[in-house]
Amino acid sequence: METKTSSRFAELSLDEAPVINVAPPGPKSQELLDYQSKHESSAVSYPKGMPMAIKRGKGATIEDVDGNVYIDFFGGAGVMAVGHAHPDVLAAAHEQIDQSTHTLDIPTDARREMVSVLNDILPKELSRVFFGGPTGSDAVEQAIKLAKYNTGRHEVIAFHGAYHGMTGTALALTTDASHREGMGPLTPGVRFIPYDYSYRSPFGGPEDETDLRAADYLEMVLSDSHSGFAKPAAVILESVQGEGGTIIPSPRFLKRVREITKEHGVLLICDEIQAGLGRTGKMFAFEHAGTDCVPDIITMSKALGGLGFPISAIAYREELNTWPAGATIGTFRGNMVAFAAGAAAIRFMKDNDVPGYAAELGGKMLAELKKLESETKIVGEARGIGLMFGIEIVRDRKTKEPAADLTKKIRKYAHQRGVMIEAGGHHGNVARLLPPLIITEELAMKGVEIIRQVIKDVEKEM
Ligand SMILES: Cc1ncc(COP(=O)(O)O)c(C=O)c1O
Repeated sequence: METKTSSRFAELSLDEAPVINVAPPGPKSQELLDYQSKHESSAVSYPKGMPMAIKRGKGATIEDVDGNVYIDFFGGAGVMAVGHAHPDVLAAAHEQIDQSTHTLDIPTDARREMVSVLNDILPKELSRVFFGGPTGSDAVEQAIKLAKYNTGRHEVIAFHGAYHGMTGTALALTTDASHREGMGPLTPGVRFIPYDYSYRSPFGGPEDETDLRAADYLEMVLSDSHSGFAKPAAVILESVQGEGGTIIPSPRFLKRVREITKEHGVLLICDEIQAGLGRTGKMFAFEHAGTDCVPDIITMSKALGGLGFPISAIAYREELNTWPAGATIGTFRGNMVAFAAGAAAIRFMKDNDVPGYAAELGGKMLAELKKLESETKIVGEARGIGLMFGIEIVRDRKTKEPAADLTKKIRKYAHQRGVMIEAGGHHGNVARLLPPLIITEELAMKGVEIIRQVIKDVEKEM
């Protein structure tokens, strides 16, 4: 179970992975897990699916405290685009930490560098940026506030399967019942409509018309005075849905949503927190719909902080730049270390065409994963765009009955064999892969092979 990585970006990861010396969790991991479960909140979740304690990460590899080395197909929930401990990014962070770490929104060179890097990669229409708080949810809150402030309207349309975060309005925009239950009342005025989820078409099919029907539905609620919807401030959309199960909308769906929102004078917010910054093979996922499909506001976080330093931002059109000074404030308005690290990470991505690399490698990985659709009965669909994949696990391909229990098993066995993956989806039945974008082809293919084997083994046990 060892691979010598030799291709592009090989120097960024550990040489050998996976290496499982002791079945995880090993004794040192177990000690830390026990301490955590004794003293931390019962809400802690990731160690339940991947029982381990981490010593260090390097590139697309992670070593646990017992000396096991894993291939990281989880990427810190999509944060680690340039991989763990990227040397350029670490150097930038180290340099900044000796200069200044917290200046609110008073300018620094690091802040200017981040803004300038964002200007280089954003479409020219999104000329303004705002740093409103450290997490992705903060960016969503700010985007909605900006839309409300500029339109004087308060309703917002979001989509079935949406995940926008855990704070007040971001939670109200998030559909998963397990997060919403017991938390009400949530911010009022949020309405949900169908997304382009073709595998489980909310219209009962046909699959390849789900996109047009979903767009027509949006058109209907905005134009029919009896739809029960008030004219909203904004439509908020994940350009690719992440936690909802890696659901990849067609470019024509994104295009139609842009056209319809424009026609109706409704702002379009694209949430690029997970799918943005190279993940899908383009710098921003909405770019898959073409250059004329620029939203009014976008949200960014996750990979924006380089190596997981907390930061989030929105970018928006000039005409929305109406907030007077102090209209929305907060203590953490951009972390200097995150600025320096994030700017270095984005420069690395740009200079090395990391999105292009992700698109090419993602295509190869997907071709292998797709084979599972015919090799097994429990893979309903394997889908992917760039290095963002979802494997929909079902009890039977014909009935499409979701199989969350099998998905959990797949995640567990993959972890035991040295590959870390995520799980999500409407029914908890989508195995999700979000590897660092600098993963070598050898590690990527090795990880895919392990997952294929794990899925076949889980099927055999049924
Ligand atoms: C699309 C999207 N929006 C918003 C968020 C919330 O970000 P955070 O967890 O940093 O608050 C997430 C987190 O997974 C996300 O995937």
